[in-house]
Parts: sequence; structure tokens; C-alpha cells
Amino acid sequence: MNTLTQTSAWRALQTHAQALNGTTLTALFAADPTRAQRLRVSGAGLELDFSRHKLDAETMQLLERLAAQQDWSGWRDRMYAGALVNSTEQRAALHVALRRGAAAPTEVRNALEHMGRLAARLRSGARRGATGKTIAHIVHMGVGGSDLGPRLALDALDGFRDTALAFDFVSNIDPTELDRVLKRSDPERTLFVAASKSFTTQETVVNARAARAWLAARLPQGTPLESHFIAVTGNRAAALEFGIAADDILPVWDWAGGRFSLWSPIGLTLMLAIGAPRFAEFLAGAAEMDEHFASAPFAANLPALMALLGVWHVNFHGAQTHAVLPYAQALAQLPAYLQQLEMESNGKSVDRAGEAVDYATAPVLWGAAGTVGQHSFHQLLHQGTVAVPADFVVLREGEGDPARHRMMVANAIAQAEALAYGRHDATLESWRHYPGDRSSSMITLERLDPRNLGRLLALYEHKVFVQGCVWNINSFDQWGVEYGKQLAASILTRLDGDLHP
Ligand code: F6P
Repeated sequence: MNTLTQTSAWRALQTHAQALNGTTLTALFAADPTRAQRLRVSGAGLELDFSRHKLDAETMQLLERLAAQQDWSGWRDRMYAGALVNSTEQRAALHVALRRGAAAPTEVRNALEHMGRLAARLRSGARRGATGKTIAHIVHMGVGGSDLGPRLALDALDGFRDTALAFDFVSNIDPTELDRVLKRSDPERTLFVAASKSFTTQETVVNARAARAWLAARLPQGTPLESHFIAVTGNRAAALEFGIAADDILPVWDWAGGRFSLWSPIGLTLMLAIGAPRFAEFLAGAAEMDEHFASAPFAANLPALMALLGVWHVNFHGAQTHAVLPYAQALAQLPAYLQQLEMESNGKSVDRAGEAVDYATAPVLWGAAGTVGQHSFHQLLHQGTVAVPADFVVLREGEGDPARHRMMVANAIAQAEALAYGRHDATLESWRHYPGDRSSSMITLERLDPRNLGRLLALYEHKVFVQGCVWNINSFDQWGVEYGKQLAASILTRLDGDLHP
């Protein structure tokens, strides 16, 4: 029997949430001119401003008490030490080991060196296809954690690409996606990265076979095709069986969960785009956040604070969704990446003991880049019947015209303030009123570069982990995605001419 909701820490927060109903964010700010400074913390180069959450000092104390009761720091230390925290699969969750640099496991350091060798040859033009032409186009094939991270990182770090290589991503089994890429590809110059931990995921295996058939049909009869493939997988035998050369197979380990694997050879395509030194910067940023998470006390610990802010809204205010609003077009893919990270990790309803939980766990995560979202869903955020807590992610320094960048930041702040304070001008008609009291965090990066992207993604990884600790769930398995795959295989054999099962 799960007793979390019976604990005094939980009940104290329930009582406290009721008590705060009597005030407003406007009143809380008016009562404490230092609020904006007091509820703003920095760590690993990032800043978290949580002053626009409807809470006070007592709230933070009660949230810390709940987190401590759930042993967040003990679980963190056990995860860092390689304990089998993924209990249903009896695995460690050691993605932090992927960015430990010289202190990383030998297998990780060897893999990074192997990545570097493959990347150097491809980036220099030394890697040639079967007919002797230089490889000029990389098609990354993967899905979920074998796609979303590389896809986000290449978009976010587009400004750091220093290669003539062109890149495409294919993840869907819908032939449209691969066909659209192949239509504009030169078979003599295209290399496919088959990224799949299992090398059994239907989308990736079927797409890799289709790519292989496409090459075979366009290259001279009988041409060996292995020079057009690299595999990133934990299933080396399957990659060899597919026909990929031994030295073109990079490893992924079972202690690096798919949604936590961008730091592993799954990130090869990122290294191809930005080079090994900048990839190392990316890893170093995550390592800084790992160190911050491991050493900062709760009240100054950005992942822990973000986690408990989410618990505050989900478990004590009934929030069922959470918006991530990156005010940087280069982070437009961040919500999609975080959907898997957060919802595949914590979209669970049984606890570590296998007991049904009687409290909410992960909310639906969604979002889009600002300012575009303001012309789409912000109406609901401001005047809808549901309050949606939001993370604004902003850059202190943009990539382009500073004047337009300042407009971006001004819009982000304006949205956060309108959500927080609302507008209650009695002279205005009711439909012009804004209820306010709608909470949001403001996460600020100095700029978007490899190091800061690494810091940001590690921040969310650890936030997700702390929420799993509070909810007493295993954040590292994903049994919920298995049954659909089995059903699809069975239905496929039964579909009639009208596509009825
Ligand atoms: O969605 C289920 C899942 O197993 C994810 O956890 C994983 O990232 C994705 O499928 C791809 O798996 P693989 O890397 O084995 O192809």
C-alpha cells in the first residue's frame, strides 16, 4: 500500500496550498520587495527565477521536507554510484558516466575515441562511398531517444556547425519521411547512421532496410554497401547481420537509457556536425550540472527546485499539463525532446513496489517556441479555465540582431508577468480581464552554445529524476510502450484489403 499521501509532509502541503488560496501573486510581490531576488538561484551557469510561482518561504520549506522524506539525495547518490535504480530491468541509470571525461569508464572513453575517428574521416571528406565518391550527406535514422536528442541538438547548435556535410533525420515508419529525403539524395555520397540501442525497433530497422534497397537499386550491381552505413547500437550481432562493417559499429550500453543517451555514441551525428572539441564542450556542460546537482543544497539546487515546483502544481494544485516555452527559435525542438524525457520517464501509475499510486505523477508536457506560441495557445494560458504552469527558457545573449533579441526577451517577461499578475481593471469589460496567479519559471542561459545546451538538458534529466524519487516510481523503464508494438505486429498480419483488422 503506497502511503505517500498519508505522510505528514504531504498533508502539510495540502493544508498549506489551501491557505495560499487566500492570497495572490500580486500580493505576495507587494509584501516582499526582495521576492524577485530572493526566489532566483543560479547553478552551473544557468539561472532559475521561480518568483512567479504562487508560493512563499513556508512552501519551499514544506517542499524540501517532502523531498527529504523521499530521500531524493540518497537516490541521487545511489544513481551516481551505479546502483540498479532501474529495478524492473535490473539496470543502473548511469548517463552521468557518459560525461565524466577522463574519469568515465574505459568503454565510454574508447567509444568517444572511436566516434572521433569516424567523425574526423567524414568531416575531412576522407570517407568515401562504394563508388569512390566522398560522403557528403548524413541521414540519421532512429526514433525516440535515438532521434529526439540528435535532432534537437543539431537544430539548437546550427550556429556551431563547421562542416560541409548535410544532415537529415528520419524516424517515422511512414515511407513519406524517408522517401522525401531519398528523393533529394545522391546514393554515391549518402551515408546512413542507423541509431538503435536494440537494433530491433521496427521503424529504424525497416527504414535501414529500405535505405539499403534504395542504394542497391542505384549503385552498380553487386556493389558492397557497408561503406554507406554506420550503426550505433547495443546489439552488435544484429548490426553485423545487417551487413555493417565491424569498425562502423559504435556501442550503446544498457545503463544508458534511450532518452538519456544523447551523450553516448547516439550523439555521433551531433559530433559530425560540430566536431569532437565542441561535443566535448557539450559533455562538459552536462558534467557541470551533474556536479551542481550532486553538491548544491536543496534550496540552491536547480534540478531539485524545478522538480518540487512541478510537484507543487501537479499534486497540490491539480495541474495536469506543463508547458515548456523556449523563447529561442533554436530551441524549438526542446518541448518534443522533453516530452519523451519527462513523459516516458514518469508517466507511470505504479510505484517501485509495484503498488498502484493514489496521487498524480507526470503531467502532459507540451510547448512551442515563443513568440510564435503567443499567436496560438497563449489565449488559453491567460484566460482559459485551466491553469498551466510554464517554463520560459530565455537567452541573455542571442545569436543575431540584438534589437530583435531584446524583443524576444521582453515578450517572454511580458507573458510571464501577465500570467502572474493578470489584469483586473474594473473599467474594462469582463472579457478583457486576466485572472493572473498563473505560475511560471524563467530559466536563463547566457547564450545557446554546446556547453549551455549540455547544462540545460542535464538540468531537465535531473529534475525528472527527483520527481521520480518524490513519486516513488522507476523513471528508467518504459513498459508502457511495449504492448502497442506487439499489437501492431499481430494486427499487421490481419489487415484486409480495406485496412480493417
Ligand atoms: O519508445 C520506446 C523506446 O524503447 C524508447 O525508450 C527508445 O528511445 C526508442 O524506443 C528507440 O529504441 P532503440 O534505440 O532501441 O531503437
